[in-house]
Amino acid sequence: MRVVVCRDADEGAEIATREILAELERKPDLVLGLATGSTPIGIYQRLVAAHRARGVSFARVRTFNLDEYYGLPPGHPQSYRSFMEAHLFGGIDVPPENIHFPPTSEKSIVAACARHEAAIRAAGGIDVQILGIGTNGHIGFNEPTSSLASRTRLKTLAEKTVRDNARFYPEGEKQPTLAATLGIGTILDSRRILLQAFGTAKAEAVRRSVEGPVSSMWPGSALQLHADVTFLLDEGSASELSLRDYFRRVRENEEELRRRGAL
Ligand code: GLP
Repeated sequence: MRVVVCRDADEGAEIATREILAELERKPDLVLGLATGSTPIGIYQRLVAAHRARGVSFARVRTFNLDEYYGLPPGHPQSYRSFMEAHLFGGIDVPPENIHFPPTSEKSIVAACARHEAAIRAAGGIDVQILGIGTNGHIGFNEPTSSLASRTRLKTLAEKTVRDNARFYPEGEKQPTLAATLGIGTILDSRRILLQAFGTAKAEAVRRSVEGPVSSMWPGSALQLHADVTFLLDEGSASELSLRDYFRRVRENEEELRRRGAL
């Protein structure tokens, strides 16, 4: 696991964006796994800026979003599709037919989820998966006790998740309590994972994920099983890590090796 304690969220977004753009340069038809929530917005702003200012093209990129609420009408402002339109898709040249979301409206959700998994495989698998993390350690909407081998399916949201997201719904509006999400097994199949977490509210989830035992009670801990995962943190989210100083030294060494051209 690579754990980078950044100066702040901006530096975290800067590092993640640089690494995504380097992957895109190597592979113009990159398969990107995308996340929602406030955390990845800094990455999306920078990708849009790279497209507008430097003409970086996403015309051959394929995208698979991590999750989507079940039961929201299409175009609902709180749907993750609307979020992605507003923060990324509306500002880059990715063709609409290359954009994929987990299914939420088909009659047979089980068959539709299986088709979604098949679509990821047909695209050659996810090259880079962007992740955030919930305060209860969820990744995507894989709530505590999600199987570490799970695939795309419908999940009931945890109380804590519903409470954390209540701020986005006007008083009296029904908030979704179900969502379709890529499974933990699906996420672990990605070639590379970039997880960002900022602020003290995420400190426990980060500690349990990075330093805790692998357990379905803290789904982020499953990432310990992945060979190429980077945690981009700030001082707040790193504040409970007992190995904080070690991770700082790792970063200094990495920078030195990079200066020498060894990395
Ligand atoms: C939602 C999403 C997650 C996201 C989490 C954290 O529950 N399903 O993918 O990581 O929120 O959101 P935020 O980044 O706003 O803290």
